[in-house]
Amino acid sequence: MSPNHSHRRHLLITGSTIGTALAHCFAQDDRVEKVTLTWHSRRPETTSAKISTTQMDLTDDEAVHNTLSNLETLDGVINAVGFLHGSGVQPEKSISRTNPSSLLKNMEINTLPTLLLAKHSRHLLKASQAGSFSSISAKVGSIEDNRLGGWYSYRASKAALNMVLKTLAIEWGFALPKCTVAALHPGTVISPLSSPFTANSNKHLFSPDESASHLKSVLDNLTPQHSGRFWSWDGTEIPW
Ligand SMILES: NC(=O)c1ccc[n+]([C@@H]2O[C@H](COP(=O)([O-])OP(=O)(O)OC[C@H]3O[C@@H](n4cnc5c(N)ncnc54)[C@H](OP(=O)(O)O)[C@@H]3O)[C@@H](O)[C@H]2O)c1
Repeated sequence: MSPNHSHRRHLLITGSTIGTALAHCFAQDDRVEKVTLTWHSRRPETTSAKISTTQMDLTDDEAVHNTLSNLETLDGVINAVGFLHGSGVQPEKSISRTNPSSLLKNMEINTLPTLLLAKHSRHLLKASQAGSFSSISAKVGSIEDNRLGGWYSYRASKAALNMVLKTLAIEWGFALPKCTVAALHPGTVISPLSSPFTANSNKHLFSPDESASHLKSVLDNLTPQHSGRFWSWDGTEIPW
């Protein structure tokens, strides 16, 4: 969110762990008037009067359309939904573990929601003088940075998400030139999505609030000149 715009802003944020932390972090900003936080199966607990919650299945075109038609304008969209494991699907350590349902599930929740959100928020963001549209991707979605291998479906779905964001940035560079499009890496964050994989990790683990605070700083410093790029929690750029 550009520091130069004092207009009272309305943000749409999705996702329960990092998403809810982002909603609270932005709600503390005086420039933000309202945050609409969407949830899927776990209704988030909120402690700010600026935050309103609504249920939305982000894989359902009509549901996204209906939810966003209730909004009048938007200055920012942050998508923090995603999928790594569940419903019998686990990240694949080797090619022998891949199967159609794993790939499709990852694509359905890691890639499709951003397409649907962009499709249905375009007209709401168009009037904003300093709009932003971002999605939480993952560093493992970087093709250039892939040194360890594994996690075929998750990596592929996040690489596809990155391509969606890059393509959107090109289209909106003409159609919505005041809107900045970004892919974000949140760091390794304590959440239901990461918990089976962090027990023996030597990586630094962020609380959702810490990650949200870093991501807000990154977003606050982006301008349309930065559109179509991939940013880590510390503001460094990640190669596609
Ligand atoms: N945690 C990390 O270390 C880490 C690292 C890199 C990237 N990320 C990315 O950060 C994002 C947020 O993850 P998180 O760590 O905050 O984990 P999380 O709490 O499990 O967040 C994932 C969210 O996706 C939602 N979701 C799943 N299917 C959905 C659907 N059909 N419609 C709407 N929402 C749906 C889940 O809602 P329900 O649970 O209610 O279904 C949940 O709120 C993800 O994109 C993840 O890939 C996380």
